[in-house]
Amino acid sequence: MATRRQPTRADVRKQKMQAAIVYPLDWLEERSGLVGATKYFLFRNVPADSNWMQTLGSATLTAFIVQAVTGVILAMYYKPTPGEAYSSIQNITDHVTLGWLVRGMHKWGASVFIILLFLHMGRVFLFGAYKYPRELNWIVGVILLLCGMLEGFTGYLLPWDQTAYWATVVGINLNGTAPFLGPWLAGFLRGGQEIGAETLTRFYSIHMLLLPGAIFGLIGLHLYLVIRLGVTSPPWSKDAAGEERPEDERPVRVGLTPPAPSRRGGS
Ligand code: HEM
Repeated sequence: MATRRQPTRADVRKQKMQAAIVYPLDWLEERSGLVGATKYFLFRNVPADSNWMQTLGSATLTAFIVQAVTGVILAMYYKPTPGEAYSSIQNITDHVTLGWLVRGMHKWGASVFIILLFLHMGRVFLFGAYKYPRELNWIVGVILLLCGMLEGFTGYLLPWDQTAYWATVVGINLNGTAPFLGPWLAGFLRGGQEIGAETLTRFYSIHMLLLPGAIFGLIGLHLYLVIRLGVTSPPWSKDAAGEERPEDERPVRVGLTPPAPSRRGGS
């Protein structure tokens, strides 16, 4: 009969360490289910023929997180008034520790974010991933795209230099030419008869509160739908979006329709 080895001091230390790590996770899991949800998110199955183009959504998400973090740091030093905006940006660039880096990351990161957004959308389009049952996620994506572009538009004014000012004049005037809502929209964006202090605070508030909040919420919904519906296979796969598949036999509860192959002939 095999005798059980007495645990050494190293074994006991290891057990204590494991318990110290597992206890808070168990505590959290029991009360929220968040640990299980994270595990499911990280280890869920994706189609075997998924490819690198399907990382563009996560790349876009990473770019957005970089914008959010650098934006919070910039907001600690930026002053949204016509008298101080330009000089506060100069201060960030020239005097704040690593301010030039944070500002550069935010400024160039904005372009990276928009480029990745379009590349991700192009991938979704080419893979037909907008088709049933993912139309709603495409719609959420379109709103995200609009919010992303509005972030660029509102952020451009904030340095309050000549380029920023005149680009915003052009942007607001362009909006003003839209039918019906145009004049109202231009007035709302200006916040008065001409571009000035009101416009700057308005753009700042939209840029650092309204849009980031909306984008965070929409990304949550977008990712929930990605997890619920699964990732689309590439167009060359037999499981590609829109392909005919055998009828799904799973029972359907009224009001809770699980996503299944389209019965409307692959659109
Ligand atoms: C802030 C912007 C966005 C973020 C962070 C984001 C993130 C993601 C992520 C992580 C995925 C799963 C992985 C992947 O397919 O790459 C995904 C999938 C998807 N995204 Fe986006 N996305 C954004 C914008 C958009 C836009 C602009 C559209 C289209 C107009 C869009 C439509 C979709 C669709 C339909 C899917 C499902 C793809 C599939 O099932 O293969 N997304 N997104």
